[in-house]
This record gives sequence, C-alpha cells and structure tokens, in this order.
Amino acid sequence: MLPRPDRLERLPPQYFAGLLRRVAEAGADVIDLGRGNPEVGPPSHVVEALQRAASRPDVHGYAPFRGLPSLRAAIAARYREVYGVELDPDREVAVLPGTKTAIVELAVCLAQRGDRILLTDPCYPDYYSGVALAGAELGLVPLDPANGFAPDLDNAPEAAALYLNYPSNPCAVCAPPGVFAAAVAYAERTGTVIVHDAAYIDLVFDGRAPASFLATPGAKEVGVEMWTMSKSYGMAGWRIGFVVGNAEVVERVNLLNDHSRCGVYMPLQEAAIAALEGPERFVDERRDTYERRRDQLLAALPERPVCEGTFYVWLRLPDGLDPARLLVETGVALAPGEGFGPSGERWARASLAVTDETLARGIERLAPALAAAYA
Ligand SMILES: Cc1ncc(COP(=O)(O)O)c(C=O)c1O
Repeated sequence: MLPRPDRLERLPPQYFAGLLRRVAEAGADVIDLGRGNPEVGPPSHVVEALQRAASRPDVHGYAPFRGLPSLRAAIAARYREVYGVELDPDREVAVLPGTKTAIVELAVCLAQRGDRILLTDPCYPDYYSGVALAGAELGLVPLDPANGFAPDLDNAPEAAALYLNYPSNPCAVCAPPGVFAAAVAYAERTGTVIVHDAAYIDLVFDGRAPASFLATPGAKEVGVEMWTMSKSYGMAGWRIGFVVGNAEVVERVNLLNDHSRCGVYMPLQEAAIAALEGPERFVDERRDTYERRRDQLLAALPERPVCEGTFYVWLRLPDGLDPARLLVETGVALAPGEGFGPSGERWARASLAVTDETLARGIERLAPALAAAYA
C-alpha cells in the first residue's frame, strides 16, 4: 500500500456519498428526502446562453485565470441591487467552480497547519473536509435551538477562521438578529476571519429579505462570503460560485487558483451572466416553490419545526425514532442529523428539493409514522 499523506487520512467519511449509498441499498421503492440536489434546473434563457456561447469558436481555450470581468461585474451588481453591498469587482470578487471548492480553499488560505478553525455545531458536513485538508484543528461552537440557532460568540476562542452559514443548512433558520454584528465584533476582538456561507441567501420565506453578512458594518474588513449559482438559479451541476468581500482574502484565493486551476469554462461564465442579469422573477419562483413545499410538509407534521428558509426542514425526532428506523419502516430516507455534528443526534434533515409528487408521497408515509411516535 502506498503511504497516504496525513491530510487525506484526516478526511472524515464523505457524508453525502455515504447517504447516497445507503439510499441505493435500501431499494427502488425508497423516497429520498435526504439529498439537497435542486430538481428544478436553470431558466431556459440561461441554458440557451450556454448553448450560444458554446457554439462560438473563441471560447474553447483557457479562460482568464480570474474570471471574465463582465461576470465579476454582474455579481457585484447583484450584491449592490439585491443585498445593498458595494463590491469592487476587480479586488473583492473571486470566481470559482462552485462553493464546495471555496470551502476547502478558504481553509487552506487562512489556516497554518495546527491553527484552529471554528465550525458551528451543527453545520454543513463539507466544512469538516476543509479543516482536515488544511491540516487545521477543529473547534466547535454550539448553535442553540432555544435561541434561534445562534452561536455564543462572546465565549468563542480565537481561531484562524470561523465558518457561519445563514440561512442555515441544516437548521433552516435565517440569521438571528444581531448575530452578524456579533460575528464582526468577535472577529475584531480576536483577529479571526469570518467565512459566511450564503448558499441559500435568496431562499427565504414569509416575506423575509435576503441578508448578506457583508451588509453588516465592518464585515468586509473581517470576512468574506461564499455565494453560489447552485441554489438561487438551480445550477448545482454547473459548478460556479464566488468568494466575495475582504480583498486580502479574495487575493489569497485567487493566488491559490492561479497555481491550481485555469479559470472556469467561458460559456459557463456567459450563462452565469445571463442568469445574474436576467429577471429576478426566476429566483422568486424558486423561492416560492420551496416555500409552498415547506408549508405542505409542516402542515403534515405533529410538531412544527421552525423553517425560515433554505430547502430543508430540520426535525427533532421523538424518542425511539431515528432515520435508520424510519427508512426501514416507511421507506423514506432523511439525512441523519449526526452527520451535521455531534448535536445533530436525534435530529434529521428533510429536503424539499424533490418533485411535488415525491414530496407528497414522502409525506403520506412519514406523517403517520411521526404521529404514532409522538402519540
Ligand atoms: C451550506 C452549503 N454550502 C455550500 C454548498 C455547496 O454549493 P456549491 O454547489 O456551490 O458547491 C451547499 C450544497 O448543498 C450547501 O448546502
């Protein structure tokens, strides 16, 4: 056997790959509400923009290392118009093949080996991979369900970076009031860089406005935000996202990419511009679809969890019931909560990123099992 570098040894099991395997093993009749893979693709004008761009002869060479200037300008315009944040497209925007890539690259760019990176408990499992690949030490800051899943940053230790994510995967809440300001204050006090993951920024319900961490006074001095085309535009398989905010951190990400990548396929970038510059109603339609499905699932549950955004519902399971038992007894797969951190034990995440029909069938099977468990 070849010796493996310790950073590979340190990688946790890939949670979502394991989940897919278990669902496949459970048989064809399983209803998969475990995975967060948007089932509605991009608007047709975006696909057409890709087709048009791909048929041009001048797009098949290496793309500019740091992204098309017009794409960086388009994301800066979105930040100005939708989130009220000014970005310098040349210094404060990095273009990446998806934010899953950014999660790892930011850890590598911010932490020396042995430095601490703080994650929240629970959090998106792939953050653990970034910590491992950077050779960093893991620290956890609990999210308090009784306090809107806010972290206690007054008592958090200093770190090379703190990853936050609102609207939260898996907790499905928007940032509780004051959390972004507390994060800036914590960063100013300790020198920690804040990495905010805004993957679900536009998928917020009940009339809420999308909220960027960077709109908080002082945020750009202490942190960056990851923003993806995957959720707002249903472009998860296209692999395109951004790191925006603090110019020094953006420069580090760009430097790493100068040495490890050759830009993003130009037609993809052209299509991303078409999406970003297209009518906002396409984003609204996606949000409305998930909100409607959220209402449908919550109405069928014996106890109603809070769900303010994303396309997930985070369920506290009653005693004696866990996702493995639910899968066997109902044929419905949920994402087991412990994959999101130690506090996720006894929780499960249900996904709304399935067709209406799949969700309806899932609810038909889940609702009686949950009602019986609560009875
Ligand atoms: C919180 C969070 N961050 C990042 C990602 C990855 O997004 P991308 O498709 O840009 O890699 C996901 C995908 O599910 C996510 O839930």
